[in-house]
Amino acid sequence: VGEANAQYVVSLIRSIPDFPKHGILFRDFMPVLSDPRANHLLNEALIKALPVQPDEFDTIAGLEARGFLIGPPMAELTGKGFVAVRKAGKLPPDTYAEDYSLEYGSASIEIERNAIHKGERILLVDDLIATGGSALAARRLIEQAGGIVVGCSFVMELNGLHGREALGLDAISSLMTMP
Ligand code: ADE
Repeated sequence: VGEANAQYVVSLIRSIPDFPKHGILFRDFMPVLSDPRANHLLNEALIKALPVQPDEFDTIAGLEARGFLIGPPMAELTGKGFVAVRKAGKLPPDTYAEDYSLEYGSASIEIERNAIHKGERILLVDDLIATGGSALAARRLIEQAGGIVVGCSFVMELNGLHGREALGLDAISSLMTMP
């Protein structure tokens, strides 16, 4: 991707202090998507940084909502399908559910009961890993559905929150780390 290009993508990430709560420095990568060059570079970088080879996973699962923005282009570029991990109450029955806590607040996520078949190898993707709470819940959810999470891809990784350790996987990639 190149250092100048990486710098360009990073320069578009917006940081908002005290959102959505006091003390949280919110990282917003939406401006990367709205810039055609940065959007292209982002997808290229995500594919280059894949934590497992394309022949080592079957399907990409993305977390609502920002995982829905990077998962489908990654799935297209690797020739895979995409499965949605949704916030509770969005999917019709039947679903599997998991509860989790995150850097601010708590939530519940769901997946369609028949979205994943037994033994399906899943690459889990999201824009950001903080404490790893939502990714771990998604990993449990996928495993409840019979899948195996073989790796995780993130755009951003927040320092000092031990998200990788929480997730308990070796195959994790992030494009950048930040406070
Ligand atoms: N999710 C958890 N922590 C976050 C942060 N600081 N910015 C954006 N999304 C987040």
